[in-house]
Amino acid sequence: MPTAYFGRRYMLSASHRLHSDTLSDEANRATYGKCNNPHGHGHNYVVEVLVGGPVDVETGMVVNMATLDEVVQTSVLERFDHTNLNRDPLFVNQVPTTENLCRAVFGVLKEALPNGELAWIRVEETENNFFEFRGE
Ligand code: NI
Repeated sequence: MPTAYFGRRYMLSASHRLHSDTLSDEANRATYGKCNNPHGHGHNYVVEVLVGGPVDVETGMVVNMATLDEVVQTSVLERFDHTNLNRDPLFVNQVPTTENLCRAVFGVLKEALPNGELAWIRVEETENNFFEFRGE
C-alpha cells in the first residue's frame, strides 16, 4: 500500500528557561548563555506535524484534517500553549530545549493518534532555528 503524507502547521507560544540541574550555575551560564536567564524568555514556536499512511479509498485522504486539528488542540496546544514549559511534568527531568519539545510533542501525539500515523514533528523556534524528531 503506498504511503502518502499530510503536514500541518500550528502556532504555539510558550516560555522556557534552559537550565540543567546536573550542571553547576557557572556551567549552565556557559552552556546556555542568555537562555539561562533566571526569568526565562518566550518563543512563538511553529509546530509542524507530518502524518503518513495509506490513502483511504473512500475519502482519498491520509487523515482527516479536522480530526488532526482536534487531536493537536486537545493533546498539544491546550497543554503547552501560553505556558511555562519548565513547569510541565514532562520537563521536570529534562531541559525544555526545542529538541526536547519536539520529543514531548511527538510523544503526546503518538499516544493520541492512531498507531503508525505520526511520521515526524518539526518545530521552528526562530526564523533561523528548526528542530525535528522522528521517534525513538
Ligand atoms: Ni529559548
